Amino acid sequence: MTALLSFRDVWVEYGDKVVLERVTLDVEQGSFVSVVGPSGAGKSTFLRLILGQEGPSHGQILMDGTPLTPECGPDRGVVFQRYSVFPHLTALQNVVFALECEQSPLLGKLFGRARRDAIAKATEMLGAVGLEHNLQVYPAQMSGGMQQRLAIAQALIKHPRVLLLDEPFGALDPGIRLDMHGLVTRLWREHGLTIVMVTHDIKEAFKLGTRVLTFDKRRIDPHAPNRYGATAVYDIAVKRKDGDVAAVLAE
Ligand SMILES: Nc1ncnc2c1ncn2[C@@H]1O[C@H](COP(=O)(O)OP(=O)(O)O)[C@@H](O)[C@H]1O
Ligand SMILES: [Mg+2]
Repeated sequence: MTALLSFRDVWVEYGDKVVLERVTLDVEQGSFVSVVGPSGAGKSTFLRLILGQEGPSHGQILMDGTPLTPECGPDRGVVFQRYSVFPHLTALQNVVFALECEQSPLLGKLFGRARRDAIAKATEMLGAVGLEHNLQVYPAQMSGGMQQRLAIAQALIKHPRVLLLDEPFGALDPGIRLDMHGLVTRLWREHGLTIVMVTHDIKEAFKLGTRVLTFDKRRIDPHAPNRYGATAVYDIAVKRKDGDVAAVLAE
C-alpha cells in the first residue's frame, strides 16, 4: 500500500545551519501522528514541509506516491497555536471565506446559489465543532478554546487529506484542553482524517496519537552547533484499544 506521505532522506538547511537531516518516514492514511521534541528541533519546519510552504533542501516528499506540489493545496489544512483565523470576519464569514478562496481563487467571493451552499456547509461545520450558537461572533469576542474550534472548522471545511496541528492547545486552560481532545478525536474518527500534531505535552502526544515521533539531534558538534540537524530519533507506535478512544470521548 502506498503511504499517504513519504519522506525520503529529507534535509532542510538555512545557509550553513542544518535544521533537519535524513528524515525518512511514511505517514499512513488515517493515522494520528504526534510530534514531540525540544524547542528548535524543526517540528514546525516539518509541518511547513507537509503544508508545501517550503521545500526540502535535499530529498523528496511524496503524497500518494507523487511529489508534493510546492503550494498550500486544499488537500492540507492547518491550525496554529494562535492567529489562524481572520479577526475582521465573524465565525461564519471565516469559514465561508475558506470555501470562497478554494472555489473562486481569483475573486475570493461566491454569489447566488454557490454562496448559499457555502453558507449552509459552513454552518454545518461550525455545528460539528460546537459553535452553532456563535455564527455571528468575531474572534476577539471568543475564548481561546472557541477560537481554536473556529480554526479547526476553517481547516476542515475544505475536507483536507491531512490536518496539521501546531501546538494547537498549548495556550488553553486544562479543562478546555480536555474538551478539545474529545473534539479532535471525534473529528478524526468521523471524517477518517490523517492528522499530524506537534505538541510539547508528552502525555497529550500518547493519549491522542496512534504514533509518536520524537525529533532531536542524533549528533552534536560543541564547536559548531549548526552543523547537524534534527531527525526522528524515536518512532513509537501506540497500541490503542477501542476503549481508549471511548475514554477520550467520554472525558
Ligand atoms: N526561515 C528560517 N531561516 C533561518 N532559520 C530558520 C528559519 N525557520 C526556522 N529556522 C530555524 O530552524 C530551527 C527549527 O525551527 P522550528 O521548526 O520552528 O522548531 P520547533 O518548531 O521544533 O521549535 C530553529 O533553530 C529556527 O531558528
Ligand atoms: Mg514550533
